[in-house]
Amino acid sequence: MPEYTAPGYTLAARVLHWVTAVLVLGLIAVGLAMANFDFGDAQDTLYHLHRSTGAVLLPLIVLRLFYRLNHPPPPLPADIPAIQQFAAYANHWALYALLIIQPIIGWIATSAYGAQILVFWLFELPSIWPADEPFSEKMFAVHRMLGIAIALLALGHIGAALFYHFVRKDDVLIRMMRG
Ligand code: HEM
Ligand code: HEM
Repeated sequence: MPEYTAPGYTLAARVLHWVTAVLVLGLIAVGLAMANFDFGDAQDTLYHLHRSTGAVLLPLIVLRLFYRLNHPPPPLPADIPAIQQFAAYANHWALYALLIIQPIIGWIATSAYGAQILVFWLFELPSIWPADEPFSEKMFAVHRMLGIAIALLALGHIGAALFYHFVRKDDVLIRMMRG
């Protein structure tokens, strides 16, 4: 049992966290798979799913950020060393920033490539960049680097959450699950 009870996250904060977490992990997995392996006939579908999920994630992350700015999270347990508190803070804000920048880069790169962004076979996003293939290649290189950076931040984040839960045995993970 934890030695103390830290205040929890609200239901809205928890739902937004877990929905965006699942989408981001899916985007990373599908992004790496489709860009690095040949899936034959399924390749186009993977690209379609990746772009569609990214298009859904962008408004959700913006919503989450607005919610976060108006609902400060409960403080971490005071006995967590200042350096770890800072690492958590830096990790969270880097994720928020990159998760807004990354879909926009993907959108710009795809527009510059001249491809359509059809969201889950339902509606098309407007092109936000004139066709320019060399520029599109540069933007995709940036997208690749940011994708790797997000994956590393997410790995560090998940590792820290598991460390708090299984090694420190505090209720930091529980409060993101049950509030
Ligand atoms: C936070 C959201 C996103 C994440 C985390 C993400 C992540 C990734 C990753 C990890 C890759 C593989 C890079 C590589 O190994 O070359 C990738 C590729 C790609 N992404 Fe995203 N992506 C996101 C959003 C988007 C969006 C919104 C679009 C377009 C609207 C998009 C379009 C693409 C395309 C077309 C590729 C393939 C690039 C290539 O073939 O070189 N992505 N993405
Ligand atoms: C299995 C995967 C994950 C676990 C176990 C997990 C766990 C947690 C926990 C326990 C917290 C609360 C930390 C605290 O109390 O200060 C948290 C916060 C957070 N998580 Fe995750 N997380 C996961 C995946 C993700 C992913 C993939 C993302 C990226 C979208 C993410 C982004 C965030 C952010 C930005 C916060 C800060 C919330 C705030 O503004 O206070 N998490 N996570």
